[in-house]
Amino acid sequence: MLSIQLKEQTKENHQILEKKLIQKMRAMRNKQNYLDLLTIFYSYFGGLEKLINNHLIISKVPDYATRRKADQLTDDIASLGGQLPAVAATQFLPKITNHEEALGALYVMEGSTLGGKIISQMISKQLGLDEALSFFKSYGENTIMMWERFQLVLNQSENFPGLAIISSANDTFGKFSEWFDLNA
Ligand code: HEM
Repeated sequence: MLSIQLKEQTKENHQILEKKLIQKMRAMRNKQNYLDLLTIFYSYFGGLEKLINNHLIISKVPDYATRRKADQLTDDIASLGGQLPAVAATQFLPKITNHEEALGALYVMEGSTLGGKIISQMISKQLGLDEALSFFKSYGENTIMMWERFQLVLNQSENFPGLAIISSANDTFGKFSEWFDLNA
């Protein structure tokens, strides 16, 4: 199944990114540090989302409109009094020119909701914060249901063998790690 292949074949890049993020979160001391993190996510995911919107065949991901958007990051940044940054230029983003590449990038964005629960708890505890966490709390108690629905989309037979999707997911993880290094 594609969902299993994706998990296995992007595992290494997930771990690299997760490690960077955990280091950054451990070093957080105040709201400004958290704002800096939200800024990195907004600029990358905001740019990525535009590319996905341009190339995803929406009829193949019927619930796309209900999926988490960079708007939540905008709200979180605003509620901390921060300025919205520009989104990352295309040279810092994965190449997305068709539906398969858009789906691979969406896999990375949607998958980040699974770690989001842990991230929001860590940030809340460390900074004593209970506002501006909407992005990382993502779909709240519906997170697993939303993930399983996305996996069903991935596992439709027309997505096999899925090499372009897997390659795009790895590129999306890799470029995000680089964006982190550039902006952290
Ligand atoms: C502190 C940082 C992070 C932690 C602790 C974390 C943790 C997790 C956990 C616990 C899962 C579920 C694994 C499972 O069900 O077996 C997961 C899945 C996933 N995460 Fe993360 N994550 C983090 C950051 C990110 C980020 C920043 C992204 C994307 C930009 C991301 C993308 C994914 C994806 C795509 C999956 C789905 C894997 C699958 O196919 O099952 N994660 N993560």
